[in-house]
Amino acid sequence: MSRIAYVNGQYVPHKDAAIHVEDRGYQFADGVYEVCEVWKDNIVDMPRHLDRLGRSLSELRIGWPMARKALEFVLAETVRRNKVHNGMVYVQVTRGVSRRDHFFPPQDVAPSIVVTARASSPAAAEKQAEAGISVVSFPENRWPRVDIKTVALLPNVLAKQHAKEAGGKEAWYVDADGNVTEGGSTNAWIVTRDNKLVTRPAESGILKGITRAAVLDLAKKEGLSFEERAFSLEEAYGAREAFVTAASTLVMPVVKIDDTVIGNGHPGMVATRLRQLFHTVTDLKAV
Ligand code: PDD
Repeated sequence: MSRIAYVNGQYVPHKDAAIHVEDRGYQFADGVYEVCEVWKDNIVDMPRHLDRLGRSLSELRIGWPMARKALEFVLAETVRRNKVHNGMVYVQVTRGVSRRDHFFPPQDVAPSIVVTARASSPAAAEKQAEAGISVVSFPENRWPRVDIKTVALLPNVLAKQHAKEAGGKEAWYVDADGNVTEGGSTNAWIVTRDNKLVTRPAESGILKGITRAAVLDLAKKEGLSFEERAFSLEEAYGAREAFVTAASTLVMPVVKIDDTVIGNGHPGMVATRLRQLFHTVTDLKAV
């Protein structure tokens, strides 16, 4: 089946989709993005993702590329046209096309927008979740504004590639205090020996994940005890369980951190249960 992308007002064949060479996203990474899960013909937690998109845009003083309602429609339409039943929908907004100059372009330059959708196999994801993943620690080297979901992902690319070459699936950033901040494209969690869920507070050092928020809702609903506090890499090595969350992975158990096996080396009960129950707390918008 041929894929379709939405680019600045038009649905075009994916293979022909293009942006201008002087798009500021291309030249300066001057743009932001969101990834929403598509689950059983629904876009998951779209309101929360669009709220965060709005926040990222406003922090960078980039305008909305269209009204929010229209964007909701374009996301759903892109999913529909690509016949994606399970997978993800991606939206990227940049400061637009203008002659290369570090200063913001003139007011009349419109933001650029691209939307794509991609199918993925739920069976393959389940298989991975049943095995769990390994993560590899990496020194935190990103700018302090990681709360903004910018397309400037070069540090994340390098950290994740390092993890891959060391046999892992994800990198865990560790800050100067020895605390885990988050993954290269996920939030990080542990379950302590006394069964407490722990994840870093969203005030600093992390992106405030939408999946993280849903898992916190789920923990409350299930009566699990949890703490939003910093945890060190050492504490994570000794944890009963560890896992990561993101729209692309949902709740993904971690069974090894660097050379240390976590728990008994198999996905933990808490992570597995949170994964199973995940969609009971999410907002589902049928496409
Ligand atoms: N990444 N932290 C970082 C650095 C991320 O890039 C992401 C998401 C998350 C989790 O956020 P959420 O739960 O809202 O997906 C945390 C997306 C999926 C990506 O870049 O592909």
